[in-house]
Amino acid sequence: MNGTVRVKNIGLRGVTVADTKISFIDGEKGVLMYRGYRIEELAQHSSFMETAYLLLQGPLPDRKELEAFSRRVVEARQLPGFLFESFHKWPREAHPMEVLQASIPMLAMADPDLSAETREANVQKAIRLIATLPGIVAAWHRIRSGLEPLPADDQLSHAANFLWQLHGKKPDEEIAHDLDTCLVLHADHTFNASTFACREVASNRAHMYAAVAAGVGALSGSLHGGANAEVMKMLQGLEGEKDIAAWVRKQLDSGKKIMGMGHAVYKTTDPRGKILKEMGARLSKKLGQEKLYQLSSQLEKAAVEEFQKRGLPTIKPNVDFFSAPVYHMMEIPGDLMTPLFAVSRIAGWCAHIIEEEFAEAQERPALYRPQAEYVGHYCGLMGCTYESQQARG
Ligand SMILES: CC(C)(COP(=O)(O)OP(=O)(O)OC[C@H]1O[C@@H](n2cnc3c(N)ncnc32)[C@H](O)[C@@H]1OP(=O)(O)O)[C@@H](O)C(=O)NCCC(=O)NCCS
Repeated sequence: MNGTVRVKNIGLRGVTVADTKISFIDGEKGVLMYRGYRIEELAQHSSFMETAYLLLQGPLPDRKELEAFSRRVVEARQLPGFLFESFHKWPREAHPMEVLQASIPMLAMADPDLSAETREANVQKAIRLIATLPGIVAAWHRIRSGLEPLPADDQLSHAANFLWQLHGKKPDEEIAHDLDTCLVLHADHTFNASTFACREVASNRAHMYAAVAAGVGALSGSLHGGANAEVMKMLQGLEGEKDIAAWVRKQLDSGKKIMGMGHAVYKTTDPRGKILKEMGARLSKKLGQEKLYQLSSQLEKAAVEEFQKRGLPTIKPNVDFFSAPVYHMMEIPGDLMTPLFAVSRIAGWCAHIIEEEFAEAQERPALYRPQAEYVGHYCGLMGCTYESQQARG
Protein backbone atom coordinates (compact mmCIF):
# COMPACT_ATOMS: atom_id res chain seq x y z
CA MET A 1 0.00 0.00 0.00
CA ASN A 2 1.31 3.46 -0.91
CA GLY A 3 2.94 5.39 1.94
CA THR A 4 2.99 2.36 4.25
CA VAL A 5 6.23 1.61 6.10
CA ARG A 6 6.49 -2.18 6.25
CA VAL A 7 7.53 -2.46 9.87
CA LYS A 8 5.54 -4.50 12.30
CA ASN A 9 6.78 -4.18 15.83
CA ILE A 10 4.25 -5.03 18.47
CA GLY A 11 5.08 -2.88 21.48
CA LEU A 12 6.92 -0.33 19.31
CA ARG A 13 10.30 -1.26 20.86
CA GLY A 14 13.08 0.70 19.21
CA VAL A 15 10.68 2.53 16.87
CA THR A 16 11.27 6.29 16.89
CA VAL A 17 7.91 7.97 16.37
CA ALA A 18 8.76 11.63 16.92
CA ASP A 19 11.37 14.14 18.01
CA THR A 20 11.38 15.68 21.46
CA LYS A 21 13.41 18.39 23.16
CA ILE A 22 12.17 17.52 26.63
CA SER A 23 14.10 14.48 27.81
CA PHE A 24 16.66 11.92 26.71
CA ILE A 25 17.51 8.36 27.76
CA ASP A 26 20.54 6.22 26.96
CA GLY A 27 19.23 2.83 28.01
CA GLU A 28 22.55 1.02 27.59
CA LYS A 29 24.55 3.47 29.70
CA GLY A 30 21.78 4.27 32.17
CA VAL A 31 21.59 8.00 31.44
CA LEU A 32 18.49 10.18 31.83
CA MET A 33 18.43 13.90 31.08
CA TYR A 34 15.77 16.59 31.20
CA ARG A 35 16.52 19.29 28.61
CA GLY A 36 20.20 18.40 28.67
CA TYR A 37 20.63 18.14 32.47
CA ARG A 38 21.47 14.76 33.95
CA ILE A 39 19.00 13.43 36.48
CA GLU A 40 21.73 13.04 39.12
CA GLU A 41 22.51 16.77 38.78
CA LEU A 42 18.85 17.79 39.05
CA ALA A 43 18.21 15.43 41.99
CA GLN A 44 21.09 16.98 43.87
CA HIS A 45 20.62 20.66 43.06
CA SER A 46 17.15 21.34 41.70
CA SER A 47 13.64 21.31 43.19
CA PHE A 48 10.40 19.94 41.78
CA MET A 49 9.15 23.49 41.04
CA GLU A 50 12.31 24.35 39.15
CA THR A 51 12.27 21.02 37.31
CA ALA A 52 8.61 21.49 36.35
CA TYR A 53 9.48 24.93 34.95
CA LEU A 54 12.46 23.44 33.08
CA LEU A 55 10.27 20.75 31.51
CA LEU A 56 7.41 23.08 30.61
CA GLN A 57 9.33 26.16 29.53
CA GLY A 58 13.05 25.48 29.44
CA PRO A 59 15.77 26.64 30.01
CA LEU A 60 16.32 26.72 33.79
CA PRO A 61 14.52 29.75 35.30
CA ASP A 62 16.31 32.68 36.92
CA ARG A 63 15.32 33.56 40.50
CA LYS A 64 12.46 35.89 39.50
CA GLU A 65 11.03 33.44 36.98
CA LEU A 66 11.12 30.62 39.52
CA GLU A 67 9.47 32.76 42.19
CA ALA A 68 6.71 33.82 39.80
CA PHE A 69 6.14 30.23 38.64
CA SER A 70 6.04 28.86 42.20
CA ARG A 71 3.60 31.62 43.20
CA ARG A 72 1.31 30.73 40.31
CA VAL A 73 1.30 27.09 41.43
CA VAL A 74 0.54 28.03 45.06
CA GLU A 75 -2.32 30.31 43.91
CA ALA A 76 -3.85 27.51 41.84
CA ARG A 77 -3.99 24.89 44.64
CA GLN A 78 -7.67 25.32 45.54
CA LEU A 79 -9.82 22.40 44.37
CA PRO A 80 -13.29 23.04 42.88
CA GLY A 81 -16.02 22.67 45.52
CA PHE A 82 -18.01 20.20 43.43
CA LEU A 83 -15.02 17.84 43.47
CA PHE A 84 -15.21 17.59 47.27
CA GLU A 85 -18.98 17.08 47.06
CA SER A 86 -18.42 14.21 44.61
CA PHE A 87 -15.71 12.65 46.77
CA HIS A 88 -18.15 12.44 49.66
CA LYS A 89 -20.55 10.47 47.43
CA TRP A 90 -18.04 8.08 45.85
CA PRO A 91 -17.49 4.58 47.32
CA ARG A 92 -14.72 4.72 49.91
CA GLU A 93 -13.15 1.56 48.58
CA ALA A 94 -12.60 3.17 45.15
CA HIS A 95 -8.96 2.93 44.12
CA PRO A 96 -7.17 6.31 44.37
CA MET A 97 -6.01 5.99 40.73
CA GLU A 98 -9.63 5.69 39.63
CA VAL A 99 -10.52 8.69 41.74
CA LEU A 100 -7.62 10.64 40.27
CA GLN A 101 -8.53 9.71 36.71
CA ALA A 102 -12.19 10.61 37.28
CA SER A 103 -11.18 13.95 38.81
CA ILE A 104 -9.25 15.18 35.77
CA PRO A 105 -12.31 15.96 33.55
CA MET A 106 -13.86 17.65 36.60
CA LEU A 107 -10.87 19.99 36.71
CA ALA A 108 -11.54 20.67 33.03
CA MET A 109 -15.15 21.63 33.87
CA ALA A 110 -13.83 24.14 36.43
CA ASP A 111 -11.20 25.69 34.14
CA PRO A 112 -12.36 29.11 32.89
CA ASP A 113 -9.75 29.02 30.10
CA LEU A 114 -10.60 25.54 28.84
CA SER A 115 -11.23 26.62 25.27
CA ALA A 116 -8.21 28.96 25.06
CA GLU A 117 -5.57 27.22 22.98
CA THR A 118 -2.53 29.50 23.09
CA ARG A 119 0.74 28.17 24.51
CA GLU A 120 0.41 30.47 27.54
CA ALA A 121 -3.16 29.25 28.20
CA ASN A 122 -1.84 25.69 28.11
CA VAL A 123 0.97 26.55 30.52
CA GLN A 124 -1.70 27.93 32.86
CA LYS A 125 -3.68 24.66 32.53
CA ALA A 126 -0.48 22.76 33.30
CA ILE A 127 0.06 24.94 36.38
CA ARG A 128 -3.50 24.18 37.54
CA LEU A 129 -2.92 20.45 37.10
CA ILE A 130 0.47 20.49 38.85
CA ALA A 131 -1.07 22.53 41.68
CA THR A 132 -4.21 20.44 42.20
CA LEU A 133 -3.12 16.81 41.79
CA PRO A 134 -1.45 16.56 45.24
CA GLY A 135 -4.56 18.05 46.87
CA ILE A 136 -6.82 15.55 45.09
CA VAL A 137 -4.75 12.56 46.26
CA ALA A 138 -4.57 13.87 49.84
CA ALA A 139 -8.25 14.92 50.02
CA TRP A 140 -9.46 11.54 48.72
CA HIS A 141 -7.31 9.69 51.24
CA ARG A 142 -8.67 11.77 54.12
CA ILE A 143 -12.30 11.49 52.99
CA ARG A 144 -12.09 7.71 52.56
CA SER A 145 -10.49 7.54 56.04
CA GLY A 146 -13.44 9.47 57.53
CA LEU A 147 -11.37 12.66 57.99
CA GLU A 148 -11.91 16.18 56.69
CA PRO A 149 -9.64 17.36 53.85
CA LEU A 150 -7.14 20.01 54.92
CA PRO A 151 -6.54 23.38 53.25
CA ALA A 152 -3.17 23.89 51.55
CA ASP A 153 -0.48 25.71 53.52
CA ASP A 154 0.97 28.44 51.29
CA GLN A 155 4.16 28.57 53.33
CA LEU A 156 5.06 24.98 52.53
CA SER A 157 6.90 23.65 49.47
CA HIS A 158 5.02 21.48 46.99
CA ALA A 159 6.21 18.20 48.58
CA ALA A 160 5.90 19.41 52.19
CA ASN A 161 2.37 20.67 51.53
CA PHE A 162 1.35 17.29 50.10
CA LEU A 163 2.61 15.51 53.24
CA TRP A 164 0.78 18.06 55.41
CA GLN A 165 -2.49 17.72 53.50
CA LEU A 166 -2.19 13.93 53.65
CA HIS A 167 -1.12 13.37 57.24
CA GLY A 168 -2.31 16.51 58.99
CA LYS A 169 1.06 17.15 60.62
CA LYS A 170 3.90 19.40 59.54
CA PRO A 171 6.50 17.11 57.91
CA ASP A 172 10.10 16.61 58.93
CA GLU A 173 12.25 18.87 56.71
CA GLU A 174 14.57 16.09 55.53
CA ILE A 175 11.63 13.87 54.57
CA ALA A 176 9.91 16.71 52.72
CA HIS A 177 13.16 17.43 50.88
CA ASP A 178 13.55 13.75 49.99
CA LEU A 179 9.98 13.62 48.69
CA ASP A 180 10.72 16.71 46.59
CA THR A 181 13.71 14.83 45.13
CA CYS A 182 11.44 11.84 44.37
CA LEU A 183 9.16 14.21 42.45
CA VAL A 184 12.16 15.45 40.45
CA LEU A 185 13.14 11.85 39.65
CA HIS A 186 9.69 10.84 38.40
CA ALA A 187 8.83 14.04 36.50
CA ASP A 188 9.60 12.86 32.96
CA HIS A 189 10.83 9.86 31.02
CA THR A 190 10.57 10.49 27.25
CA PHE A 191 7.96 8.41 25.40
CA ASN A 192 6.93 6.06 28.22
CA ALA A 193 3.45 4.53 27.92
CA SER A 194 1.52 7.22 29.79
CA THR A 195 3.31 10.11 28.08
CA PHE A 196 2.76 8.49 24.71
CA ALA A 197 -0.94 8.11 25.61
CA CYS A 198 -1.09 11.83 26.46
CA ARG A 199 0.65 12.80 23.23
CA GLU A 200 -1.54 10.52 21.15
CA VAL A 201 -4.71 12.07 22.57
CA ALA A 202 -3.28 15.60 22.24
CA SER A 203 -2.35 14.90 18.61
CA ASN A 204 -6.10 14.61 17.93
CA ARG A 205 -6.53 18.18 19.23
CA ALA A 206 -8.25 17.05 22.39
CA HIS A 207 -7.58 19.44 25.31
CA MET A 208 -4.93 19.00 27.95
CA TYR A 209 -7.24 17.47 30.56
CA ALA A 210 -8.51 14.83 28.11
CA ALA A 211 -4.91 13.92 27.30
CA VAL A 212 -3.89 13.81 30.98
CA ALA A 213 -6.85 11.56 31.86
CA ALA A 214 -5.53 9.06 29.29
CA GLY A 215 -2.08 9.35 30.84
CA VAL A 216 -3.42 8.58 34.32
CA GLY A 217 -5.16 5.50 32.95
CA ALA A 218 -1.98 4.23 31.30
CA LEU A 219 0.09 4.93 34.41
CA SER A 220 -2.22 2.82 36.57
CA GLY A 221 -1.07 -0.41 34.85
CA SER A 222 1.11 -2.71 36.95
CA LEU A 223 3.75 -2.84 34.21
CA HIS A 224 4.04 0.96 34.37
CA GLY A 225 3.38 3.26 37.36
CA GLY A 226 1.34 0.62 39.17
CA ALA A 227 4.55 -1.35 39.72
CA ASN A 228 5.55 0.61 42.86
CA ALA A 229 2.39 -0.53 44.68
CA GLU A 230 3.07 -4.10 43.52
CA VAL A 231 6.65 -3.89 44.82
CA MET A 232 5.32 -2.85 48.21
CA LYS A 233 2.88 -5.78 48.30
CA MET A 234 5.72 -8.11 47.30
CA LEU A 235 8.00 -6.79 50.07
CA GLN A 236 5.24 -7.06 52.65
CA GLY A 237 4.58 -10.64 51.53
CA LEU A 238 8.28 -11.42 51.96
CA GLU A 239 8.50 -10.32 55.60
CA GLY A 240 9.72 -13.32 57.58
CA GLU A 241 10.77 -15.21 54.42
CA LYS A 242 13.98 -17.10 55.28
CA ASP A 243 15.24 -18.00 51.80
CA ILE A 244 14.77 -15.05 49.45
CA ALA A 245 16.78 -16.66 46.65
CA ALA A 246 14.52 -19.74 46.72
CA TRP A 247 11.45 -17.46 46.63
CA VAL A 248 12.85 -15.67 43.56
CA ARG A 249 13.51 -19.01 41.81
CA LYS A 250 10.00 -20.23 42.58
CA GLN A 251 8.48 -16.98 41.37
CA LEU A 252 10.31 -17.12 38.04
CA ASP A 253 9.77 -20.87 37.60
CA SER A 254 6.04 -20.32 37.87
CA GLY A 255 6.20 -17.59 35.20
CA LYS A 256 5.60 -14.72 37.61
CA LYS A 257 7.38 -11.38 37.56
CA ILE A 258 9.67 -9.79 40.09
CA MET A 259 8.07 -6.37 40.29
CA GLY A 260 10.33 -3.33 40.10
CA MET A 261 12.84 -5.24 37.96
CA GLY A 262 13.48 -4.82 34.26
CA HIS A 263 12.77 -2.00 31.89
CA ALA A 264 11.69 -1.57 28.30
CA VAL A 265 14.53 0.91 27.64
CA TYR A 266 17.18 0.55 30.37
CA LYS A 267 19.39 -2.46 29.93
CA THR A 268 21.35 -1.55 33.05
CA THR A 269 20.40 -0.11 36.45
CA ASP A 270 17.93 2.73 36.18
CA PRO A 271 19.82 5.91 37.25
CA ARG A 272 16.80 7.00 39.32
CA GLY A 273 16.88 3.66 41.14
CA LYS A 274 20.47 4.29 42.30
CA ILE A 275 19.48 7.64 43.85
CA LEU A 276 16.42 6.10 45.51
CA LYS A 277 18.48 3.22 46.89
CA GLU A 278 20.85 5.67 48.62
CA MET A 279 17.89 7.68 49.89
CA GLY A 280 16.28 4.49 51.22
CA ALA A 281 19.48 3.51 53.05
CA ARG A 282 19.70 6.94 54.73
CA LEU A 283 16.01 7.16 55.58
CA SER A 284 15.92 3.62 56.96
CA LYS A 285 18.57 4.56 59.55
CA LYS A 286 16.85 7.82 60.43
CA LEU A 287 13.44 6.19 60.80
CA GLY A 288 14.47 2.84 62.30
CA GLN A 289 13.31 0.95 59.18
CA GLU A 290 16.53 -0.94 58.54
CA LYS A 291 14.66 -4.26 58.23
CA LEU A 292 12.63 -3.08 55.26
CA TYR A 293 15.70 -1.66 53.55
CA GLN A 294 17.68 -4.86 54.15
CA LEU A 295 14.84 -6.93 52.76
CA SER A 296 14.74 -4.79 49.58
CA SER A 297 18.50 -5.07 49.16
CA GLN A 298 18.46 -8.85 49.70
CA LEU A 299 15.68 -9.22 47.15
CA GLU A 300 17.52 -6.99 44.67
CA LYS A 301 20.71 -9.07 45.02
CA ALA A 302 18.91 -12.42 44.77
CA ALA A 303 16.83 -11.34 41.76
CA VAL A 304 19.74 -9.82 39.83
CA GLU A 305 21.82 -12.99 40.42
CA GLU A 306 18.96 -15.25 39.36
CA PHE A 307 18.26 -13.23 36.19
CA GLN A 308 21.97 -13.44 35.40
CA LYS A 309 21.93 -17.24 35.81
CA ARG A 310 18.96 -17.44 33.48
CA GLY A 311 20.76 -15.48 30.75
CA LEU A 312 18.92 -12.22 31.47
CA PRO A 313 21.76 -10.00 32.77
CA THR A 314 20.08 -6.78 31.64
CA ILE A 315 17.19 -7.10 34.09
CA LYS A 316 18.06 -4.72 36.92
CA PRO A 317 16.05 -2.65 39.41
CA ASN A 318 13.97 0.13 37.92
CA VAL A 319 12.64 3.32 39.54
CA ASP A 320 9.81 1.50 41.29
CA PHE A 321 11.96 -1.01 43.14
CA PHE A 322 13.32 1.42 45.69
CA SER A 323 10.65 4.13 45.46
CA ALA A 324 8.18 1.73 47.12
CA PRO A 325 10.17 1.25 50.37
CA VAL A 326 11.11 4.94 50.36
CA TYR A 327 7.45 5.99 50.12
CA HIS A 328 6.52 3.43 52.75
CA MET A 329 9.06 4.97 55.13
CA MET A 330 7.42 8.34 54.41
CA GLU A 331 4.12 6.78 55.57
CA ILE A 332 2.56 6.89 52.11
CA PRO A 333 -0.03 4.07 51.92
CA GLY A 334 0.67 1.46 49.20
CA ASP A 335 -2.30 2.39 47.00
CA LEU A 336 -1.25 6.07 46.99
CA MET A 337 2.19 5.28 45.56
CA THR A 338 1.01 5.26 41.95
CA PRO A 339 -1.08 8.44 42.38
CA LEU A 340 2.05 10.02 43.87
CA PHE A 341 3.91 9.04 40.68
CA ALA A 342 1.22 11.00 38.79
CA VAL A 343 1.67 14.01 41.12
CA SER A 344 5.19 14.20 39.71
CA ARG A 345 4.72 12.93 36.13
CA ILE A 346 2.03 15.55 35.52
CA ALA A 347 4.87 18.01 34.83
CA GLY A 348 6.28 15.81 32.06
CA TRP A 349 2.87 14.94 30.64
CA CYS A 350 1.92 18.61 30.31
CA ALA A 351 5.29 19.52 28.79
CA HIS A 352 4.86 16.76 26.18
CA ILE A 353 1.24 17.72 25.45
CA ILE A 354 2.36 21.30 24.78
CA GLU A 355 5.29 20.12 22.66
CA GLU A 356 2.91 17.89 20.68
CA GLU A 357 0.18 20.48 20.25
CA PHE A 358 2.51 23.28 19.20
CA ALA A 359 4.91 21.07 17.20
CA GLU A 360 7.84 22.43 19.16
CA ALA A 361 10.20 19.64 18.14
CA GLN A 362 9.03 19.03 14.60
CA GLU A 363 7.86 20.99 11.58
CA ARG A 364 4.13 20.71 12.15
CA PRO A 365 1.66 18.88 14.40
CA ALA A 366 0.99 15.30 13.31
CA LEU A 367 -1.87 12.97 14.10
CA TYR A 368 -0.78 9.59 15.45
CA ARG A 369 -2.53 6.87 13.49
CA PRO A 370 -0.62 3.60 13.21
CA GLN A 371 -1.82 0.64 11.16
CA ALA A 372 -2.59 -2.92 12.08
CA GLU A 373 -2.35 -5.99 9.91
CA TYR A 374 -5.71 -7.72 9.67
CA VAL A 375 -5.31 -11.42 10.51
CA GLY A 376 -8.97 -12.23 11.20
CA HIS A 377 -11.77 -13.95 9.27
CA TYR A 378 -11.59 -12.94 5.59
CA CYS A 379 -13.53 -13.95 2.49
CA GLY A 380 -11.91 -11.60 -0.03
CA LEU A 381 -12.50 -7.91 -0.83
CA MET A 382 -16.18 -8.46 -1.60
CA GLY A 383 -16.63 -9.43 2.04
CA CYS A 384 -18.33 -12.47 3.58
CA THR A 385 -21.95 -13.22 2.85
CA TYR A 386 -24.14 -12.19 5.74
CA GLU A 387 -26.11 -15.19 6.96
CA SER A 388 -29.43 -14.49 8.57
CA GLN A 389 -29.89 -15.35 12.25
CA GLN A 390 -32.26 -18.12 11.12
CA ALA A 391 -29.64 -19.72 8.89
CA ARG A 392 -27.01 -19.50 11.67
CA GLY A 393 -29.36 -21.34 14.02
C1 LIG B 1 9.08 -3.30 32.41
C2 LIG B 1 8.87 -4.57 31.61
C3 LIG B 1 7.39 -4.65 31.20
C4 LIG B 1 9.73 -4.50 30.35
O1 LIG B 1 9.47 -5.67 29.64
P1 LIG B 1 10.26 -6.03 28.30
O2 LIG B 1 10.39 -4.81 27.47
O3 LIG B 1 9.60 -7.22 27.70
O4 LIG B 1 11.70 -6.39 28.87
P2 LIG B 1 12.78 -7.35 28.28
O5 LIG B 1 12.70 -7.38 26.78
O6 LIG B 1 14.07 -6.95 28.89
O7 LIG B 1 12.35 -8.78 28.83
C5 LIG B 1 13.06 -9.92 28.49
C6 LIG B 1 12.41 -11.12 29.14
O8 LIG B 1 12.55 -11.01 30.54
C7 LIG B 1 11.31 -11.10 31.17
N1 LIG B 1 11.26 -10.15 32.27
C8 LIG B 1 11.50 -8.83 32.20
N2 LIG B 1 11.35 -8.28 33.40
C9 LIG B 1 10.99 -9.27 34.24
C10 LIG B 1 10.67 -9.30 35.61
N3 LIG B 1 10.66 -8.20 36.35
N4 LIG B 1 10.36 -10.49 36.17
C11 LIG B 1 10.35 -11.62 35.43
N5 LIG B 1 10.63 -11.63 34.12
C12 LIG B 1 10.95 -10.47 33.54
C13 LIG B 1 10.31 -10.67 30.11
O9 LIG B 1 9.02 -11.19 30.37
C14 LIG B 1 10.94 -11.26 28.88
O10 LIG B 1 10.64 -12.64 28.84
P3 LIG B 1 10.08 -13.32 27.49
O11 LIG B 1 11.15 -13.05 26.47
O12 LIG B 1 9.93 -14.75 27.87
O13 LIG B 1 8.80 -12.63 27.19
C15 LIG B 1 9.28 -5.82 32.41
O14 LIG B 1 10.63 -5.73 32.77
C16 LIG B 1 8.42 -6.02 33.65
O15 LIG B 1 7.31 -6.55 33.53
N6 LIG B 1 8.91 -5.62 34.84
C17 LIG B 1 8.13 -5.75 36.05
C18 LIG B 1 7.11 -4.62 36.15
C19 LIG B 1 7.76 -3.29 36.46
O16 LIG B 1 8.58 -3.19 37.37
N7 LIG B 1 7.35 -2.28 35.72
C20 LIG B 1 7.84 -0.92 35.93
C21 LIG B 1 8.69 -0.48 34.79
S1 LIG B 1 9.45 1.08 35.15
